[in-house]
Amino acid sequence: KQLAVGIDIGGTNSVFGLVDREGNMYGEGVIPTKKYPDFDQYLEELYIGIQSIIKAYDEPCELVGIGIGAPNANYYQGTIENAANLIWQGRVPFVEKFKKYFPNLPVIITNDANAAAIGEMMYGAAKGMRDFIVVTLGTGLGSGFVANGEMIYGSDSYAGELGHVVISGGERQCGCGRKGCLETYVSATGIKRTAFKLLADHLEESEFRNVTYNDLTAEMITKAALAGDPLAIEAYEYTGMMLGKALADAVTITSPEAIILFGGLAKAGKYIFEPTKRSMEMNMLRNFRNKVKLLPSGISGKNAAVLGASSLAWQEREKGRK
Ligand code: BGC
Ligand code: NA
Ligand code: ZN
Repeated sequence: KQLAVGIDIGGTNSVFGLVDREGNMYGEGVIPTKKYPDFDQYLEELYIGIQSIIKAYDEPCELVGIGIGAPNANYYQGTIENAANLIWQGRVPFVEKFKKYFPNLPVIITNDANAAAIGEMMYGAAKGMRDFIVVTLGTGLGSGFVANGEMIYGSDSYAGELGHVVISGGERQCGCGRKGCLETYVSATGIKRTAFKLLADHLEESEFRNVTYNDLTAEMITKAALAGDPLAIEAYEYTGMMLGKALADAVTITSPEAIILFGGLAKAGKYIFEPTKRSMEMNMLRNFRNKVKLLPSGISGKNAAVLGASSLAWQEREKGRK
C-alpha cells in the first residue's frame, strides 16, 4: 500500500499520521512542539514518532512522501520564517534538515492554511471548485487562496496571510509586532481576549466569572456558547462580526465561489457562522452580495490538518507526473 506522511505543526502540538490516497488515516502520533526550543532535538523526536507509527503499520507499505503544514512556512524555500506562534524564532531550514532523515523521499512544507486548502480541494468542501478561500481558526488565523484552480503562492510563497491584515478600528497588539491584525480578534487567542474584555465590561453571570486568563481556553468558550452561555455567545457574535468584515474585503481580491471555515472556532457552528455571514454580506461590495457561500470544512474531524498536510505530498507526486 502506498502511504504519505502528513505532519501538522502547531504552536502547542505537532500531529502526524500515515494517509493513503483516498484520505484514510492509519496511525497517528503527537509530540509537544513547545517542549523543544532546540529545533534539532525537535526533529529527532518527530522522526522517532513517525518511525513508530510506520512500525505499527503491520502490512507492507511504500512511503511516497512527507507533507508538512506549518505557520509561516515558505513552500519555495522549505523553511519556516518568523513564526510568532511557534517556539523557534527567525528562519528554520525545515526541509534541508528533515531530509537528512528521509533522503529518498520528497519532503514538502507549506503554510498550514494552504495545506488545509489543498485537503479541502482533494477530499473536502472544495471538491471541484476552482475559486475558494480556506480560513483556519486556530491559535492564529491562517488562509489559503485557490484561484483559477491553483493554490496562490505568490512571488515568495507568503500569499494569503489574512491573519495579519489590519482591520479598521483594530488596536490589539499582535504577535507579529503590529497592532490591530485580524488574528488578534479572530482566533483562539483572539476570542479569549474578547471574552475577557466582555467580562470586565459587564459583570454578567457567566461560567467564566472565576476563571483566570491563563486557564481560559477557546474550547471552553465554544462549549459554553453551545450550552447557551450569553457571554460566550456574545464573544462569538463579536468574533463573527470582525471576521465577516475581513472576509467582505478578501472576496474582492479573488472573487471566490466559497469561503470555508476550518479549525477550532468553526466548531461553534451557528454561533460563528451566523454573525460572520451577516457581517460579510452587510460589508460586501454589491457585486458580490448573496453569491459567496460560507461553508464548514468538509474534512473536519480530529485529523483534518494532518490529512491536509498529507494531501500536499500526493499533490506534489501527481504534479510530478504531468
Ligand atoms: C501565521 C500564518 C498561519 C496562521 C495559522 C498566522 O499567525 O502568520 O502563517 O497560517 O497563523 O497558523
Ligand atoms: Na496561506
Ligand atoms: Zn499580526
